[in-house]
Amino acid sequence: MRNLNWLMLLLALLLVSCSQKQQQLSEEDQFVEDLLAKMTLAEKVGQLNQYTSRWEMTGPAPKDNAGAQDLLEQLKAGSVGSMLNVNGAEATRKAQQTVVENSRLGIPLIFGYDVIHGYKTMFPIPLAEAASWNPELARLSSEVAAKEAAVSGINWTFAPMVDVGRDARWGRVMEGAGEDPYLGSAFAKARVEGFQGDDLGNEFTIAACAKHFAGYAFSESGRDYNSVEIGNETLHNIVLPPFKATVEGNVATFMNGFNTINGLPVTASGYLQRDLLKGEWNFDGFVVSDWNSIGEIETHGAAADLKESAERAIKGGSDMDMEARAYINHLEELVIEGKVDEELITEAARRILRIKYRLGLFEDPYRYCNVENEKSMMYTDEHKAAARKVARESMVLLKNDNQILPLSSETKRIAVVGPLANDKDSPLGNWRAKAVSHSAVSLLEGVKAAVGSSTKIKYAEGCQLSIGPRNFTDRMIFNESDRSGFRAAVKAARQSDVVLLAIGEDCYQSGEGRSMTDITLKGLQQELFDEIYKVNKNIVVVLMTGRPVAIPEIAEKATAILETWHSGTEGGHAIADVLFGKYNPSGKLPVTFPRNVGQCPIFYNYKNTGRPTGQTDAWVLYSCYNDAPNSPQYPFGYGLSYTQFDYSDITLDKNTITKDGKINVSVSVSNSGSVDGEEVVQLYIQDIAATYARPVKELKGFEKVMIKAGETKTISFELTEKELGYYFPCGKYVVEPGQFKVFVGGNSVDVKQAQFVMQ
Ligand code: NOJ
Repeated sequence: MRNLNWLMLLLALLLVSCSQKQQQLSEEDQFVEDLLAKMTLAEKVGQLNQYTSRWEMTGPAPKDNAGAQDLLEQLKAGSVGSMLNVNGAEATRKAQQTVVENSRLGIPLIFGYDVIHGYKTMFPIPLAEAASWNPELARLSSEVAAKEAAVSGINWTFAPMVDVGRDARWGRVMEGAGEDPYLGSAFAKARVEGFQGDDLGNEFTIAACAKHFAGYAFSESGRDYNSVEIGNETLHNIVLPPFKATVEGNVATFMNGFNTINGLPVTASGYLQRDLLKGEWNFDGFVVSDWNSIGEIETHGAAADLKESAERAIKGGSDMDMEARAYINHLEELVIEGKVDEELITEAARRILRIKYRLGLFEDPYRYCNVENEKSMMYTDEHKAAARKVARESMVLLKNDNQILPLSSETKRIAVVGPLANDKDSPLGNWRAKAVSHSAVSLLEGVKAAVGSSTKIKYAEGCQLSIGPRNFTDRMIFNESDRSGFRAAVKAARQSDVVLLAIGEDCYQSGEGRSMTDITLKGLQQELFDEIYKVNKNIVVVLMTGRPVAIPEIAEKATAILETWHSGTEGGHAIADVLFGKYNPSGKLPVTFPRNVGQCPIFYNYKNTGRPTGQTDAWVLYSCYNDAPNSPQYPFGYGLSYTQFDYSDITLDKNTITKDGKINVSVSVSNSGSVDGEEVVQLYIQDIAATYARPVKELKGFEKVMIKAGETKTISFELTEKELGYYFPCGKYVVEPGQFKVFVGGNSVDVKQAQFVMQ
């Protein structure tokens, strides 16, 4: 009995100490709460306010564009919590000093910038990196970009963009990881980890931002900023998974979008931002609006004025206002009028202060502004080598007849032709941060550096590109009449053994605000191809684009096609590495290439429909076009190698699994060619009969493996309820018993198939 009493006492003491511990705040929380307790309402609102620098605008100028003097006063008053587009160690230090030394509480600014695929050393565009199917490369490029940005005073990048992009017309398809949520999630997480490292407080890491939450890429007709109408089943299964993956990767911030979904501006969506992101997913960072997306609530027609927009946005869970000036002008008033609970503002400020704390800004507000590091750690040989490595692994070999590639570096005569052949600017892409214009290695330079002295290179531009808008007020400039360069190009082609024809898109032809109704090659490029084809059939098309393009004639006639995207600072060297076989191409398309624009949006994970074609001879009255096939030019997951990979049949370790069980899927892949190569082994499933019709294929696993010539490797995947369930439109994840098909192959079409049952 006495022993029992002692036991009870011990238990009671244990319980008390546990609950005390629970109540104890972490150092971070304590710091933030103490600071919040000192802050006035106006100071809290100040933390929610973000302005751009006056010298770099990445959105339309706001109506109430405060002048430089006014900005200075607001900084000193603590009315600004963050700035974007201020960069450079000195400039950020100066702005930081203004705030820290003059405002009452000296709360440091957080500096945001669009560091999308590099800061000064440019990596390939994100779509290209996804084509590597190697998330480690995205981690590497983000890590380098973070380092270069961090030493320039930037603590926060507005990346990664994790919007699943199915529509080649949409200009920003270049900025994401393509059309698939599974591949997109892997890249989203890797990018976040690359930018943020394990410790946000490290002076060489920066906070990441998952954007644009949510649905932005589904803009109707591929026109940027357009409305979005999607069902909840698509929202939960296609749009949201990469966002969720970034939360699992501890992303520090989110950015919402310009768009409405089914009429509701996402900036005001309490469901997305409060219930889901901050509630169910437990995200503890903050949400910044997109540029004036709070102001655009009014323009959409979902608020009467800016004040009501501010009310809807804060209630909807938008924590920071980028350039709408809605919060700074209206939140205090809304609290005083009793329309907005002050706690909502405190909560938003808490989230922002938390991230500033994690970045170490309270410890040292100047941690990221290091002029010495800025000089020595920028654009280094190591960074350029990383850019070259990532670029060459991002390229996709779309065609290679007669094994024309790889070229021998002893090839006697090579014509390097086309408007992009000696373009040192387009490979940099248009989200180029601090890259120096015209600083990329061009294809011509790359080829010259790769060949021996016995190779004769003839260069001709052929025609000029059509030029995408450089500034907000520019229009596209089409070059459709100047054929004066054709002659020299044709002559060079005639006198050569092989023609490297560099065609595609100017860097400003894709990206934000650069949607297209025509995704064929613009201007005279097709004509140039046709003229060259008349005199030399050995054409290797080096395609440089920021989106999938429709090239049916080129696909038919060119001997080889290498999609190199906008490949960054070291582009020319990386392309030459592939062309001359120093690197065996291993990229696979992260997006479907349509035959023509009318097929858009086209993607591999479509639903079967009630009338699929191809199952009977009947054509009319089935789901098809009458003037073109349904199938794409090049499917998702597709890409060739200089070697040949052969797949065995699939082996399953069982034919039946339970809901909480797992099934092992394996194949043997043999390299039956004569060179070593990497293959991306892809696994897809189909849930054959479900409550809500499932796609004909869904990617649920991939592995990139090096297989030596003559070697065979066994690749295994495990499927569990994590891969086999799906979201109901209400957002609930459900695993339904029944028949499943499983497919494995080197792209989404050429696959081996097996079947199993879930009980
Ligand atoms: C608008 C873009 O949509 C967004 O992605 C970007 O981060 C901001 N402008 C800031 O430049």
